[in-house]
Amino acid sequence: MKVLIVSSEYSPVAKEGGLGDASAGLAPALAALGCEVKVAIPGYGQVLENFPQSVTIVDKVRVSMGAYNLFADLRNLAPFSGVDTYLVCNDSMFGRHGIYGDKNGLFGDNHKRFVFFSKSIPALCSATQYIPDVILGNDWQTGLIMALLDQGFMPRTAGVFIIHNIGYLGYVPPEDTPVLGLSNKYLTADGLEFYGQISLLKAGLAFANRLVTVSPTYAREIQTTEQGAGLDGLMRKRSQDLTGILNGVDFSVWSPEHDKHLPASYNMDSMGGKAQCKQALLNELALDSTLLERPVAGMVTRLFSQKGIELVINALPQIIEMGIGFVLLGNGEAGYARDLWGLAQAYPGAFKFVEDFDEALAHRIMAGADILCVPSLYEPCGLTQMYALKYGTIPVVRATGGLADTVHDVDSLNGKANGFTFDAFHPGALTYALKRARDYYQDQDAWKNLVAKAMDSAREYTWDKAAAQYLASFERAIEARKFS
Ligand code: ADP
Ligand code: GLC
Repeated sequence: MKVLIVSSEYSPVAKEGGLGDASAGLAPALAALGCEVKVAIPGYGQVLENFPQSVTIVDKVRVSMGAYNLFADLRNLAPFSGVDTYLVCNDSMFGRHGIYGDKNGLFGDNHKRFVFFSKSIPALCSATQYIPDVILGNDWQTGLIMALLDQGFMPRTAGVFIIHNIGYLGYVPPEDTPVLGLSNKYLTADGLEFYGQISLLKAGLAFANRLVTVSPTYAREIQTTEQGAGLDGLMRKRSQDLTGILNGVDFSVWSPEHDKHLPASYNMDSMGGKAQCKQALLNELALDSTLLERPVAGMVTRLFSQKGIELVINALPQIIEMGIGFVLLGNGEAGYARDLWGLAQAYPGAFKFVEDFDEALAHRIMAGADILCVPSLYEPCGLTQMYALKYGTIPVVRATGGLADTVHDVDSLNGKANGFTFDAFHPGALTYALKRARDYYQDQDAWKNLVAKAMDSAREYTWDKAAAQYLASFERAIEARKFS
């Protein structure tokens, strides 16, 4: 089966969050199942700079943007993790640094950039005479492709759309709707129209032949008014076409046994390296050396309301008071960063805030911390808690979305205990869960047992398992396409 994965992120080539890891984890796993997989991502400025050896396959393919045309060049990045990876290039759209924005904030023309990206996909398939059986789109940046397929482009290709986050609608201002190239019937409430606006995400949700989201619990949640971001009605309507497939972990990147970013390696049978990683992290971040005997919690996250940053900000004084050290690596909203810098000044030696995107430090925190804190308001899947399990770092999470599917409380009776969970989106609930973790840590034998169970539980979260379920969705999408 020929599968074209279209994504705005692909790790490590272009990554802002879990979308990059998910696309890069799924592609080789599908290839291993016998699919002929290709990946297309935008040729962002930094990618072209980092990979100057990429080769042009076709150039100047015309892409209509309503009243004007733009031209797309297709470059071959050469196989990445064994999968052919292509860059869709246009200087005015992508010839700048940043995936969605830069230090001045989000780019104002993101809707046009990703409309261009989406529209260039059928144009480039046609120019290269490549006809995939399935196009696998990811989030709002590629939603339009599903409507274009429905409108009759590429009649032999089915569309499968992954919802990584229903909270990002991908709005197009009304004056720009002509760039979409869709007939008026697509711009109604049954199509892209969403409370008077036009949403590119909704194009994916309404017109893909099959829908996938990234955990079973999130698949249920997005069908509720509380978590459906206004799209729960559509999700209920399409519930027969929607599957929740848990993301996996790419163990070639995230494994303490052979992680090139760590000062020492370790595995379940030989844990000495984890203590060395903790010592090195305390030194690197100038944290109080007495924390070697006390639990250190880490967090690696985008600073957005989804991630429960306000809970951490409000709970931090009590967390520090309880004797827990805390390290937070993150970037995003300036207001959160300001509050976190204030706390870092108030609690030097106990709390460190690193305002950055730093892949290597993310790995060192994953290994060096005792606890990984993920107090999200909502979490479609969440990858960091699964990485933490693999690194023997105990997750303390709010039981929502994929966090609820992957972390089981020490008090749960299902025999799968591997962490601590809490329900209320409240700083007190986070503090109490961390207090339970701290108390558990004081019995080092019990803690070591829990660490062993956590590391063992990570084995379940493989991309191979996810890829087999994707394949079943592709087959159903191809069937559905025949009758559409
Ligand atoms: P989301 O995609 O919503 O951000 P996930 O848990 O699925 O959440 O994935 C987050 C990914 O991004 C992980 O690989 C994590 O390590 C990485 N990440 C997030 N913030 C940073 C950061 N500031 N520096 C380095 N890596 C980060
Ligand atoms: C999104 C979600 C996150 C998920 C990731 C990869 O960014 O916020 O929960 O893990 O996509 O699917």
